Amino acid sequence: MIIIPIFSFLKYAMSDSIEKQIEQLRICLNQLNYHYYTLDNPQVTDSEYDQLFQKLKQLETDNPTLKTDDSPTQRVGAEPLAHFEKVIHAQAMLSLDNAFSDEDLLAFDQRLKDRLKSDNAICYIAEPKLDGLAVGLRYEKGILVQAATRGDGRTGENITQNIRTIQTIPLHLTGDNIPELLEIRGEVFMPLAGFKQYNEQALAAGHKIFANPRNAAAGSLRQLDSKMTAKRPLDFICYGFGEISTPFADNYADSLEQIAQWGLPISPERAKLNDMQAGLDYYQTLTKKRPQLDYEIDGIVYKVNDFALQDQLGFVSRAPRWAIARKFPAQEVSTLLLAIDIQIGRMGTLTPVARLKAVEVGGVTVTNATLHNEEEIQRKDIRVGDEVILRRAGDVIPQIIGRLERPRSTDSKPFKMPKNCPDCGSKVVKEEDKAAYRCTGGVKKCQTQRKWVIRHFASRQALDIDGLGDKLVEVLVHNDLIQDIADLYQLTAETLSALPRMGEKSAQNILKALENSKKTSLSRFIYGLGIREVGENTARNLALHFATINDLAETDKKTLEDIDDIGPIAAQYIIDFFQHPDNLALIARLMQTGFVLENKTPPLSEKKLPLTNKTFVITGKLSRPRNEIKAELIALGAKVSHSLSKKTDYLIYGEKAGSKREKAEKLAIQMMNEMELVSFLQSSKIKYEFKD
Ligand code: IVH
Repeated sequence: MIIIPIFSFLKYAMSDSIEKQIEQLRICLNQLNYHYYTLDNPQVTDSEYDQLFQKLKQLETDNPTLKTDDSPTQRVGAEPLAHFEKVIHAQAMLSLDNAFSDEDLLAFDQRLKDRLKSDNAICYIAEPKLDGLAVGLRYEKGILVQAATRGDGRTGENITQNIRTIQTIPLHLTGDNIPELLEIRGEVFMPLAGFKQYNEQALAAGHKIFANPRNAAAGSLRQLDSKMTAKRPLDFICYGFGEISTPFADNYADSLEQIAQWGLPISPERAKLNDMQAGLDYYQTLTKKRPQLDYEIDGIVYKVNDFALQDQLGFVSRAPRWAIARKFPAQEVSTLLLAIDIQIGRMGTLTPVARLKAVEVGGVTVTNATLHNEEEIQRKDIRVGDEVILRRAGDVIPQIIGRLERPRSTDSKPFKMPKNCPDCGSKVVKEEDKAAYRCTGGVKKCQTQRKWVIRHFASRQALDIDGLGDKLVEVLVHNDLIQDIADLYQLTAETLSALPRMGEKSAQNILKALENSKKTSLSRFIYGLGIREVGENTARNLALHFATINDLAETDKKTLEDIDDIGPIAAQYIIDFFQHPDNLALIARLMQTGFVLENKTPPLSEKKLPLTNKTFVITGKLSRPRNEIKAELIALGAKVSHSLSKKTDYLIYGEKAGSKREKAEKLAIQMMNEMELVSFLQSSKIKYEFKD
C-alpha cells in the first residue's frame, strides 16, 4: 500500500476508491482549517494546504456526482441572491438585560437567589460580550444547513451563503454523539487586525471605509453576493443554543466544551466563576485585557451555569432571567479640535483629518481622527476650535461623532475643502455623484500621489521589492530622485549609498531586490500598476484572461466586462489607463529595463492552444514533481484529470504505474513515458509556434 507522504495524518492509498480519497481529503482539510483558523496553530505550510485543496477540487471536478455542499471546497461560489429569504427562528433569539456597576451585578445575583429560594452560591460562566451581529446556525446530522440573522428575534434573514464563507464556522461537524438537530447561536464579528487592513486597503483604493468593526461585519453579511463576503475577514464565536434534538450536557460550561470538540469556536476568554464576587474580579481582569484583544467587546455576559437552574429561572419578556450583560462605560470623551488637515490618497482623493488635543479613550491616546468628507463635517457641524466628542471605534480609527454645544468664537468658520491640492497646487475637483474630492495633478505633479503609487508598486502583494519601504520611498521622491516607478530601475549604488542612513551593503541589497523584481508574474505586475478598481483578485482574473500585458492593453471594454469580477466601472478605468500615453510609455520603459512577466495560467480567451480539449492522466512515479508536469500541460491548454475514462486522450506513466496502465490498455488510450512526453511536448510547442 502506497501512503501519500504529504502529511502524516492524511492516510490513503492510491488504490483506494475515489470516494475514500475525497472523504479523507475533506477530513484532513477540515482538521487543518480548524487548527489554522480556530486554534490559530497552523499544522502545515500554506502551499502544502493549497496542494491538498487543489487535489480535492480536482477530484470533485472530475467526479461531479461526489461533490457535496459540506466540502471545504464549497465555501464560496454560490450564485448571488436577488434578496434574502425570511427565516422564522424555531426558538426566539433573545436579548439581554444590562448591568452598569458592581452593585447591579450583586443585585442580579441576589434576585436569582431570592427567586430560587436558596442562599447557595450560584456558579456563573462569564464571557466577553462581542460587538458584532448575532446569528443562528442550524446543523442537521452535523451538516450546516441554514444560517440566519437575529432580525427582530423571531424572524431573521437567511444568510447561509455568506456564513459559509467564514472559515472558522465548520460546514460539517465531526465527532461523536452529535444531535440530529443542533442550533448554535453566536456572534459574527470582524477582528481588529482584519478591520484595520481592510480599511487601509479600501482607503488606498479610494473606496468607502467602515466606521467601526461592527458596521464592517454588518455590511459584509448584508452582501447578496457571497464572493464579496468571502473577501472580508470575518470570524465567529458561539455563545448559546436554539433548538436541540437531544440534550448533551447538564450545564453551559460542559456544553461549550462539547461543541468545541465538534469543531465549533468558543470564547477563549470564558471563565467559570463560583460566585458573583469572582464575577466582579473577572470584570477587572477583562477590563485590563481588553486593549490586547483582537476584537471589540462592549461588556461581559454572565450566565448561570446549571441548565436546571436556568430552566427554573426562565425568561422575562425578551430576555432570560439567568443572564446579564455588564456593559463597559461608553468609550467616549471630548477634546479640542486643533485643525483639519487634508490627506491625499493613492488615487488623489482628499480626506479631511482632524488634529486633536491628545486625549485617552479606551486605553489608547488619540491625536487624530478621520472626518471622511466635507458633507459629513457639515452634517455634524464641526469647526476648528470646537470641543468635539470622540468615540473609539475599534482600536484603529477613532470617530468624531459630534460636538459639545458651546458658544463659538466670532472667527469660527465652517470647513471648506481646498480648491487646490495642498501638496502640488493642482486643481481639486468633486467627483460626480460622490462626496469625494480629487486632486487632478496625478503622479506627475503630485508628490504624495507619486509616493503612494511607488509604495503600492513595491508592496508585498505587488512586486514585493524587499527593502523599498515607506521611508526610502519618501526620501527618493522628496529629493526628486524618482518621478515614476520606471525610474526605480535607473537607481545606482552611488545614488542610493549617498542617502542618509544607507550603507553600501543596503544599497546593494536594494539594487538586487529591484533586479529580482523584474522577474514576476503578469498578475502581480498588473496589480502593481495601481489601476483604479483593480485589486489583487481582479489582477489575477485579468492575468487568467490575457496572455501578455500587450493583449490587455489592446483589449476593449466588452471583453473586459465579460471577465469574472469586472463591472463596467472597473472596465472603463482599465481602458482609460491603457489609453493614456504616459502609462503606455511607462510600461514600455519598464519592459526595456528587462521585465519578464511570467503567465503560467493559460489564457482563457478563445485562442486555441496546442493541447486544448485534450485530457491527460498522469500515473506512477516520475522523475519530476507531478505538479510541474501538470503545469506544463495546462499551459498548453490541456486538462489534467485524476481518473481514467473513455474521455482520456493520453496516459503519462512512470514507474509502478499499476492498474491505470492496464485500464488504459483496455480502453486503447495512447500512453507515453516521460521521455516520450518530452519529445511530444516539444513537437506540440513547435507546431504551435509555427502556426502562430
Ligand atoms: S447571550 C439568551 N453571549 O448580545 C442569551 N450574547 O444583548 C442571548 N452578544 O443579541 C445572548 N456576545 O448579539 C450572549 N457572549 C455572549 C454575547 C452575546 C455578544 C450579543 C448578542 C445578543 C446581544 C444581547
